[in-house]
Amino acid sequence: MKPVNDVIDGLGTTIFTVMSALSVEHGAINLGQGFPDEDGPADVREAAARAALDGPNQYPPMMGLPALRRAVAAHNKRFYGLEVDWESQVLVTSGATEALTASLLALLRPGDEAVLIEPVYDSYLPIVRLAGATARMVRLRPPESSVAEWSLPEAELRAAFGPKTKLLVMNSPMNPTGKVFSGAELALIASLATEHDAYVICDEVYEHLVFSGARHVPLMTLPGMAGRCIRIGSAGKTFSLTGWKVGYLTGAAELIAAVAKAHQFITFTTPPSLQQAVAHGLGKEDAYFDGLAAAMERKRDRLVAGLREVGFNVLASQGTYFANVDFRPLWNEGGDVDFATMLVREARVGSIPVSAFYPADPPAHMVRLCFCKQDAVLDEAIARLKAFF
Ligand SMILES: Cc1ncc(COP(=O)(O)O)c(C=O)c1O
Repeated sequence: MKPVNDVIDGLGTTIFTVMSALSVEHGAINLGQGFPDEDGPADVREAAARAALDGPNQYPPMMGLPALRRAVAAHNKRFYGLEVDWESQVLVTSGATEALTASLLALLRPGDEAVLIEPVYDSYLPIVRLAGATARMVRLRPPESSVAEWSLPEAELRAAFGPKTKLLVMNSPMNPTGKVFSGAELALIASLATEHDAYVICDEVYEHLVFSGARHVPLMTLPGMAGRCIRIGSAGKTFSLTGWKVGYLTGAAELIAAVAKAHQFITFTTPPSLQQAVAHGLGKEDAYFDGLAAAMERKRDRLVAGLREVGFNVLASQGTYFANVDFRPLWNEGGDVDFATMLVREARVGSIPVSAFYPADPPAHMVRLCFCKQDAVLDEAIARLKAFF
């Protein structure tokens, strides 16, 4: 038999799948999974049900339902002051995953370079490679203590840019670190993108999951960035409906036109009932968006306090669904995969080794734990960890 595609063939089974399977096998509380265990707002789900019953349920427009594209444009204006033409500057995709794939395939040519920031979300690198481009990895510095944040090293970032740089992919608020990029870091990225005439794909799926003391600023709002950025959002995260897979992109008309050409042959479109419901959701009152972040912040605080009591060094998390721990104060018998495997088998708590977010030479002393779970579930996980350690 002739070999299949090398990039795809090289992917193997991810640690996410392995850890979830181990969680089931050992009856563990799975804090590895990055999704809420409660569904999002009833009115948004009712809007989907109504739209499915009333129809039409036929192919919606390739760019997305006008109602949703209008709602995305209005959301950009309402939260960030961005003026966006809904017809030419907004595209709806089947999740942020498709938005990322379509953007990378549309922009990259063989031989191009893409700057990626480690720890890196797992879908970016395979798609960069599928496009025939090369990734230049820049590694965030892990925090020195639970107060300090992951930081973007300027010299390394500068060195990653060169004549072949086509784009950078950034994720803020960032999975797995919980980092919200600072104003100075955004300004640095903006200046390098301008200097090297590069695009920036901004994965902002956690835009509404930012905690007190931090603020999400889209790179697109910085001077000169509107024409270079593709800003990606996800209804899955914004409405705690991760299974819906409704994503949306905002960018300059020429960029969106290119991404739409890729999108037409990846999925072409996204279920119209879900699009209609997300259009309704994006129009919800401020109290909804504030409440979402506040509720998640309380869950973060609950898990973090418990993990500290257990004795972990808990790293700062300013947003997302995730907190990371340095487990070395409690355990020094191996790397993070060994630790996570031991934890799921013996303490019956599932986690994700942070090394999974590094393609090579990872740091191996941290695991990621997800706090977007019901309080009782978080409490039970902490009780199990206390009993074990
Ligand atoms: C950083 C990041 N980007 C993209 C996605 C994918 O989002 P969606 O479910 O809308 O495809 C996720 C989901 O976990 C994520 O964490």
